Amino acid sequence: MVKESPIRILLVDDEIINLENIGHFLGQKGYEVSTANDGSEAIDQLSQSNFDLVVTDLKMGAVDGVQVLKAARELHPQIEVIMMTGYATVNSAVEAMSQGAFYYLAKPIKLKELHALVSQATEKALLRHEITLLKQRIIAQPDVTQFIGHNPEILKLKDSIAHLAQLDCNILITGETGTGKELVARTIYELSPRDKHRFLPINCGAMSEELISNELFGHDKDAFTGAGKMRQGLLESTAGGVILLDEIGEMPIGMQVKLLRVLQERKIIRVGGTREIPIDVRILAATNRDLQEEIKKGNFRQDLYYRLNVVTLHIPPLRERQDDIPLLTNYFLAKYSPQDSISRTMSGKALDCLVDYEFPGNARELENIIERSLALCPDDEIQLHHLPPEIHGSTANPATYNPVVHAPKSIKSLEENELEYLLAVLDSVDGNKTQAAKIIGIDRVSLWRKLKRFKSKGFTIPWMAD
Ligand SMILES: Nc1ncnc2c1ncn2[C@@H]1O[C@H](COP(=O)(O)OP(=O)(O)OP(=O)(O)O)[C@@H](O)[C@H]1O
Ligand SMILES: [Mg+2]
Repeated sequence: MVKESPIRILLVDDEIINLENIGHFLGQKGYEVSTANDGSEAIDQLSQSNFDLVVTDLKMGAVDGVQVLKAARELHPQIEVIMMTGYATVNSAVEAMSQGAFYYLAKPIKLKELHALVSQATEKALLRHEITLLKQRIIAQPDVTQFIGHNPEILKLKDSIAHLAQLDCNILITGETGTGKELVARTIYELSPRDKHRFLPINCGAMSEELISNELFGHDKDAFTGAGKMRQGLLESTAGGVILLDEIGEMPIGMQVKLLRVLQERKIIRVGGTREIPIDVRILAATNRDLQEEIKKGNFRQDLYYRLNVVTLHIPPLRERQDDIPLLTNYFLAKYSPQDSISRTMSGKALDCLVDYEFPGNARELENIIERSLALCPDDEIQLHHLPPEIHGSTANPATYNPVVHAPKSIKSLEENELEYLLAVLDSVDGNKTQAAKIIGIDRVSLWRKLKRFKSKGFTIPWMAD
């Protein structure tokens, strides 16, 4: 495996002589070695810089090797750790391995053995790093990482997402169906320090209380008939990661009590078990219901609501951010056009109708419409008749010109007349600005400037969407 910069090792031992000998040896082998003379100094160094590998003594003063190991894993999930120990403490070394140490090495240290282990461990660390990068690249497909939109509310939302991703608080994501709640949750996860671990959406609406308990908490051996072997629940197996409790408003009320306990105590007990197991997951929740209403109706527990709702992110419905429709349309056109084909476009009239449509199913509905119309349209440009009838229906007669001008309806000013004329011309050439400018008798840039001026005054100009 190729790594351009040298591999960095943190060597920790309370005996200076070991630090010197081993440090010198590893240095000669081409590793970049930093040393720490006790556990807390090691943790300090780990918090300040990056290492590929830690080689640490197990038994040290106040802060021992296991604590160094835990800190190392917390600060750098990719890191590998080799534990050095005297024969007397082999048991503790085995325990350390259950915490995720890569290997232990019995003292007195044989340098050849150490070298073999170090190269094995660094190889593994580098591989992990590479896989993580690959995974990120796969996950970083635009449809998952990008929440598209430039409406002021959406820009605010994106700021909040970036900020909240770095914290570890519970977040409640609300919005109508198809507004992108899961996408927001996924984006938070991807931008968060937990992105090296799993993101797991769980649909709480689809499961009975028993089933959710079993899924989330797991069960101990023979907890119930047919349970068989012990099984870890998702709250345990997603350690380090993020869980999205989707459709939380539909979670059975009995389960809500259990979930509240988990959120308060950060511990679980497996079904049929007695032992409390600490969990380390970030919990996000999403709903399209009005939870306040559900609380009034007795379907949702107020105490759970307060716990989940440390921060609420609300995604406005698409009809309240019509200005994002053209942008989203282009995005979905790109998403569903084969990579090597010319990108297809939406005719001005068709886009008008889309902008005017209510979208009860929000972005998901728009996405489906675009996917479908691409399948129906043989040409480069999607026309009105390729869109579903409910969209034509939203304008009185799709064949007649119907510009989207949101301005007072009283007597038209000169300016409004001018705009209407410009839009009518543009419409007659399906938004082609060069052709429109020719018809009007001005150059393309002047036309663009005029439209821009109207846009800045709050008029909606369909052909300036992007
Ligand atoms: N702003 C956006 N930018 C890009 N894609 C979006 C956006 N909003 C939604 N989508 C896409 O729309 C589809 C629906 O989004 P998502 O599943 O996140 O919605 P939801 O709010 O969880 O819906 P439901 O309430 O039905 O569970 C997804 O394919 C998602 O990628
Ligand atoms: Mg969803």
